[in-house]
Amino acid sequence: MKAERNNMTDNNPLYIIQKTENQLIKAIESQLVNKNQTPNIIEAPLSTGFDYGINLTSLASQEGLSPHDLALQIANTIDGAEAVGSFLNFKLNMSEFGHSVVDQILDMKSDYGKENEGNGQRVVIDMSSPNIAKRMSYGHLRSTIIGDALANLHRSAGYEVIRDNHIGDWGTQFGKLIVAIKNWGNEQELLTSDDPIGVLQDLYVKFHSEEETEKGVLREEAKQKIALHSVESITGLKETIETISQEIMTRKKIPKIELDMTKITEDALDRVIVTSLEKEGRNWFLKLEKGNKEARRLWKLCIDLSLKEFNQIYEVLGVNFEESFGESFYEGMLTDVINKVSSSKAGHISNGALVIDMEDKGLGVAIVQKSDGASVYMTRDLACAIYREEEMKADKAIYVVGDDQKQYFEQLFEALTRLDYKIGKNSVHVYFGMVSLPEGKMSTRKGRVILLKDVLNEGFKKAKDVIEKKSPELNKNEALKNEIVRQVAVGSLKWNDLCQDPRKSIIFNWDKALNFDGNSAPYVQYTAVRANSIIETSEIDIISLLKNNVNSKKDYQEASEKALIRQLANFPSAIKDGLDNNSPAKIASYVFELAKRFNSFYGKNRVLGIDDENIASSRLKLVAATSQTIKNSLAILGIEVPLKM
Ligand code: ARG
Repeated sequence: MKAERNNMTDNNPLYIIQKTENQLIKAIESQLVNKNQTPNIIEAPLSTGFDYGINLTSLASQEGLSPHDLALQIANTIDGAEAVGSFLNFKLNMSEFGHSVVDQILDMKSDYGKENEGNGQRVVIDMSSPNIAKRMSYGHLRSTIIGDALANLHRSAGYEVIRDNHIGDWGTQFGKLIVAIKNWGNEQELLTSDDPIGVLQDLYVKFHSEEETEKGVLREEAKQKIALHSVESITGLKETIETISQEIMTRKKIPKIELDMTKITEDALDRVIVTSLEKEGRNWFLKLEKGNKEARRLWKLCIDLSLKEFNQIYEVLGVNFEESFGESFYEGMLTDVINKVSSSKAGHISNGALVIDMEDKGLGVAIVQKSDGASVYMTRDLACAIYREEEMKADKAIYVVGDDQKQYFEQLFEALTRLDYKIGKNSVHVYFGMVSLPEGKMSTRKGRVILLKDVLNEGFKKAKDVIEKKSPELNKNEALKNEIVRQVAVGSLKWNDLCQDPRKSIIFNWDKALNFDGNSAPYVQYTAVRANSIIETSEIDIISLLKNNVNSKKDYQEASEKALIRQLANFPSAIKDGLDNNSPAKIASYVFELAKRFNSFYGKNRVLGIDDENIASSRLKLVAATSQTIKNSLAILGIEVPLKM
């Protein structure tokens, strides 16, 4: 692929914009005495009538000149340059620049925008990662959508990408779940239910409420015993009170006298009292760990039922994973991790637990092994990161997880670094805020949670209404219509997650997401469909235009044409920007602006049915290049361009 493309250098494709920029920079630098600052050329605001510009303030101060004087001096030496205040502005020869940009796009096709900076590097994207026996939340959906876009973005920069679904399929909760299924569940019902995860979730809630009841009774009994005898009458209570007191005194830096002993005794009681249900749960988890057949069977049942539902959502979204190891995959590696931590300087024992104290960095204390010997979420993540570095040979890892786990990932990366794993420094947490849905509009299950399935179904219904109204002719082709409805609904859902800084909390609203006139997927999709239909109507083979092109000085002289060309030329730098910031939002705002500029171009210029053949074909090429670039941008976001709309 690399050798065949004439626009490629050894490393990256050399894009027309970069070539042009390099020429301008060289011309500017030739006028400077000091060359330690690289001139920063930006697109000139649309209202100025210029194409590009540079603010000379800081370069001028380095030269000991006034910015305007420096601007005048350089302007004299460059064709099309003009000094405006402290700015040096440029007008390009747009017919030449425009044709080069457009030709390059039409020549490179889906490769336009690609970079090679990630060549030879492997990145793991930890994404989606829902928990077994729990419904996928909107947070997991966000992680899936953002993670997939980041994967595409990295792939266009030459990285080898491994999307890894780190499913939550291990932990002591599975012991409890097995007890709940055995005590109150009905396997037949589970297998035939249309909401098996809901049934499992209810069973889990039942376990906790039953356990709370039992605990209440035990607590009262214990209290009476203490009143009659002393704290010593309850095994382990005195020691636990002591432990908790110590913990609080260290944490709050207060003397013993200020401790609230009533509260501490209550908390200690809660730790000491172990209900029979909890014992059963621990027992079943132990069996699960040891490979007991029945425990494994029920655990596997929960996984299968949950994955069936998760996969339906992935299918609708069109998202795939290279790996879905899940937390349980690392089970066999946990002892190793625990040994590594306990034998390194990083780990020590505190209150019987193995911890890594990162207080010196303001990151608190991370538990790696509980005092009862159990592993935790962190233990599995350490094993997983080490596996990714050592076995998967990953150079980089990106975790796409909600902002509630921000401190947790800071701890994880720091812990890895302290254990001498370089993946610690090469990992990033791309976090996102909460999504809320407008109250009352979505159907809920027992008023507690919103079902993702319902959210999707509602979107499909609304998209269908919109499409049927906008394009009634599609009613004749039901299959095509349904395909378009899916593309528009899924596109809208994804756009909503990708069009702004994901760290902000958002309210999701289907009507806004499906608004054809707003900052939405359908607006951009519709623009691409429109461009495609212009090309189709022209019945001209774009490739033939490429080959016998007669560039004329008259081409691309209208302001809206120029603006469109500049935006087309900008795509590679939008990709770079997206990569540097791990932000697909950069691509979304890029393509939204591109669509707006195209629509303004098309509103002002005729493309079809004009007599001047040169102008006609130049404009048609511009339309085709726009269509290609919108398609490439949307592909990164995981959004498809429909055939019709
Ligand atoms: N299953 C977790 C949750 O739902 C997210 C896992 C994120 N990935 C990771 N490597 N910890 O909160």
